[in-house]
Amino acid sequence: MLAAHRGARAPSGLTLFSPHASLGPMALSAAELKRYFSQVYGHPAAGVVRAPGRVNLIGEHTDYNDGFVLPIAIERQTLAAYAPRADRTIRLASRQQRRAEASFYLDGPIRRARPKWANYPMGVAAGLIAHGAELAGRDILFDSDVPIGGGLSSSASLEVAAALAMLTGTGSRVDDYQLALICQKAEHDFVGAPCGIMDQAIAVMGRAGRAMLLDCRDGSARQIPFDDPHLVILVADTKVKHDLTDGDYAARRAQCHAATDKLDLKTLRYADEATVLAGADKLTEKELMRARHVVGEIERTVRAVDALVAGDHAEFGRLMYASHASLRDDYQVSCPELDRIVELARPLRDVYGARMTGGGFGGCAIILVRADQADRIGRAVTEGFAAAFGHPCVVFATRAASGAGVVC
Ligand code: GLA
Repeated sequence: MLAAHRGARAPSGLTLFSPHASLGPMALSAAELKRYFSQVYGHPAAGVVRAPGRVNLIGEHTDYNDGFVLPIAIERQTLAAYAPRADRTIRLASRQQRRAEASFYLDGPIRRARPKWANYPMGVAAGLIAHGAELAGRDILFDSDVPIGGGLSSSASLEVAAALAMLTGTGSRVDDYQLALICQKAEHDFVGAPCGIMDQAIAVMGRAGRAMLLDCRDGSARQIPFDDPHLVILVADTKVKHDLTDGDYAARRAQCHAATDKLDLKTLRYADEATVLAGADKLTEKELMRARHVVGEIERTVRAVDALVAGDHAEFGRLMYASHASLRDDYQVSCPELDRIVELARPLRDVYGARMTGGGFGGCAIILVRADQADRIGRAVTEGFAAAFGHPCVVFATRAASGAGVVC
């Protein structure tokens, strides 16, 4: 059996590890988290909010080029239980960071601090206050089954869950896209990760049974039905860790911007392949490769939406493979483990397409498959991966889940 998101749960306080069935410790239910909150803080929680992780179906490394992306929210999420405090302090604890609790004062200057994980909620608080939100003292306890640093946007789900835990019940309201921008800025300013807007936007704006076509030029979103009961997405985790702060991601952004300047464009969104090729002699070889990926990927994303709407899953799958090849060869953000998963999946019956998802250099690949064949396909990929690398990759199935919200 592949991991069902809400499969066997560990009793409160315990973690279950099963290499085939789980990407990490199971998250608690909202009721369990509330009980755990009382143990940690010594008083009851007032409520629980949630924000999901994501996979991107197609449209990779296009968000910071004003392009299109097509992510879904997944059935893995960060929960945050919270309760008001009488003072102006925010206290933070996490089930994943048991020895690293943190607190900060809402009226002081909020600055980067240690522990590292606390910078995400602190950055969000700073952004909300700058936006004019009236925050009040709170105790907050996080729990997540989005694997940390696994390429499924654990950071964005933490940021958005933190935002809701601080906003809910205060009377302050922030528009969805504005909230995503505030969370993105927190990651830039407090963590040093120069991410685009995709992860935070889908965590806030995702809908169950929908893939979200986001136009990163203006923040407008179109919700595309992605609820065919015969389809499921398999997520295969290489367990190769990569951090957006380590320079490779920033280098790709810089190459795109250099190409944009040399081609005299506002952004690569305003170019197509012909424009890029016509200006090829102005670009370095790497800039040409990066620009070619971006303009091709933006076009593939638009075509993928047409294929999805038409129910043409074979075409959607072909575009996924083409996206992967472009990310591997022109954008150079894949790795042997991701390539292997795609190649293991490709010849299998009832696989429509596969590709790396997210920033790359590790993290996860996704495979679009017939739902009733997901177990067989997942097993074959895991076993093939183990034969190549000496350890299995972890596979779980997901459908499109809803964006962030109040649980109770
Ligand atoms: C990371 C970033 C996103 C996006 C992807 C690549 O996930 O956080 O903004 O740029 O990489 O598509």
